[in-house]
Amino acid sequence: MSAVTRLSTLAALWRLVRFARPALPRLIGGMVAGLVAGLVALAIPQVLEVLVDSAVGADARDAIVPATLAILGLGLLEAGAILVRRWLVLTPNTRVEAAMRSALYERLQRLPVSFHDRWASGQLLSRAVSDLSLIRRWLAFGLVLLVVNGVTVLVGAVLLIGIQPVLGIVFIVGALPIWIIAARFERTYSVAARRSQDQAGDLATAVEESVHGIRVLKAFGRGGYVQEKFERQAEQLRGTELEKARAAAVLWRWLTLIPDTVLALCLIVGVIIAAQGGLTAGALVAFFATATVLRFPLDSIGFLLAFTLDARNATDRFFEVIDTPVDIEDPRDPLAIEAPRGRLEFRGVHFRYADAKDDAKDLIDGVDLVVEPGETMALVGITGSGKSTITALVPRLYDVTGGEILLDGVDIRRLRLSELRRHVAMAFEDSTLFSDSVRDNVLLGAEDRSDAALKQALEVAQADFVDDLPNGVDTVIGEEGLSLSGGQRQRLALARAVAAAPRVLVLDDPLSALDVDTEARVEAGLRRVLADTTALIVAHRPSTVALADRVALLDEGRVAAVGTHSELLATSERYRFVISSLDDEPHLGEGCGLDIDDEVRRASRDEERGAETLGIPLGEGGRS
Ligand SMILES: Nc1ncnc2c1ncn2[C@@H]1O[C@H](COP(=O)(O)OP(=O)(O)OP(=O)(O)O)[C@@H](O)[C@H]1O
Ligand SMILES: [Mg+2]
Repeated sequence: MSAVTRLSTLAALWRLVRFARPALPRLIGGMVAGLVAGLVALAIPQVLEVLVDSAVGADARDAIVPATLAILGLGLLEAGAILVRRWLVLTPNTRVEAAMRSALYERLQRLPVSFHDRWASGQLLSRAVSDLSLIRRWLAFGLVLLVVNGVTVLVGAVLLIGIQPVLGIVFIVGALPIWIIAARFERTYSVAARRSQDQAGDLATAVEESVHGIRVLKAFGRGGYVQEKFERQAEQLRGTELEKARAAAVLWRWLTLIPDTVLALCLIVGVIIAAQGGLTAGALVAFFATATVLRFPLDSIGFLLAFTLDARNATDRFFEVIDTPVDIEDPRDPLAIEAPRGRLEFRGVHFRYADAKDDAKDLIDGVDLVVEPGETMALVGITGSGKSTITALVPRLYDVTGGEILLDGVDIRRLRLSELRRHVAMAFEDSTLFSDSVRDNVLLGAEDRSDAALKQALEVAQADFVDDLPNGVDTVIGEEGLSLSGGQRQRLALARAVAAAPRVLVLDDPLSALDVDTEARVEAGLRRVLADTTALIVAHRPSTVALADRVALLDEGRVAAVGTHSELLATSERYRFVISSLDDEPHLGEGCGLDIDDEVRRASRDEERGAETLGIPLGEGGRS
């Protein structure tokens, strides 16, 4: 083993102490029991020596009985110690595993959205499941056996030298190549081991995504395509596993060959020495019996080494997540808003995603906008202009990269996250629900968890379909709410935002999936709620714009114009263009006497399809 990698493997695994601490007493107890078993096993040949020598000598009868009893006793002691070792190490590590898993989960919850943009879910899943169970098994068996077998080999080597120095040295020098081969093995194996764990994570992502997107895949008849892709990935993983197995096979071949050869060599040397009278028959037997006891610890080195390297990689992968800094966190000296009024102000706000090209200008390029308390502001812009991005900045799902966002005059970064998110509630473009009851989904962020509050929120969102569900509000909706229609999901997500009764309501295109009739009723409900709630509503439809007191036009990363709908129609050509390209709904365009030709509409549609037609690979779930 090269000093550098051994040290770093040690250092890497040392970090587990933090989590393994509660299990340490039992682990150490297990090691002690294992050592007792190992040392007792080594003691047996020493008694054997007395036994053999006395059988040959004159005082045979006196010594045989006690020596035989001693060997029997030692054998029982060894078996008992092994049992105790197993019993001690088996359970405590399940607790360590559970604690590490909670720590990982807690971290994943705290890490900002930008982390989850970067990380594939399968990589996180494989860390939470297979890596952690590998670490548990290694702590219970790998680590304990590594220490026990290592010490046993050392003590055994000393005993061998004690029995006959020349023979002992022949044995130790003969076994040296094992260490050289093991060092080489570590280098090849650990690289492949890491790759295989990463590939397993990718495979998990592939499974997750295809199960997730099963409807799309089926509908487009693309089952074969993803199957092929999956098989290719699985084949890669198999290749890596083979590579690992080959490296291990080479090691194991040497690990059986070398001790056998060394023993044969020792036998020849031993017989010669004995013939010259330098060794009694008993000592020769003791020597080989001791060497045989060392056989298993020596053989196991290969396996334990591989196991340790796997555990090291699993530990690295675990800490990669745990070590990721949480950059959206509570401030050190938080301020509190005593009586929130809900005045939302964007002041020179800049934002760019971390993966943006260096030379690209900021996606949000200096937005100034004030939403007065109780006011409803619509946000309008062509697709991809950054509307959803702006809404995500308000509850600090992402932090601004320049400028500031103020809530009642306080920079939102000076507020505790819990406070900020109590004041601000959101409904997202894709209305994600959880596999939980309708009630728990809607009341997710609500302080008032009464039936009345639930009923009111559902009423505002016109989610009366809930009454028709098998168990009403207690019906558990399927995974991600996929058993509901798009419009139903959207209304529950809207109800969830309303039920949180926030000062500031941020709605990203909340009515897009509704028919005109339902939309009108939801709007009426929303108007009641919005009367004293500050709202920022992304609008894709002119009818949503109609909800708003004022409209802000987002263009080229800035707010190009703010005013009432009719003011903007009258003064801003860009606004007329954007509004007319938003939707095919004829009433607004007609009402304003706009005459926009199809070209304009098509232009914005084409832009929307740009990414698809260009064949750019989208991130997981297309979330980029
Ligand atoms: N998580 C992300 N990571 C990197 N880039 C992103 C991410 N989310 C969005 N983008 C990019 O930022 C730009 C603005 O996206 P955004 O979702 O804010 O637009 P939008 O105005 O809401 O569009 P739409 O009207 O289609 O909903 C797009 O070019 C998009 O590719
Ligand atoms: Mg959007």
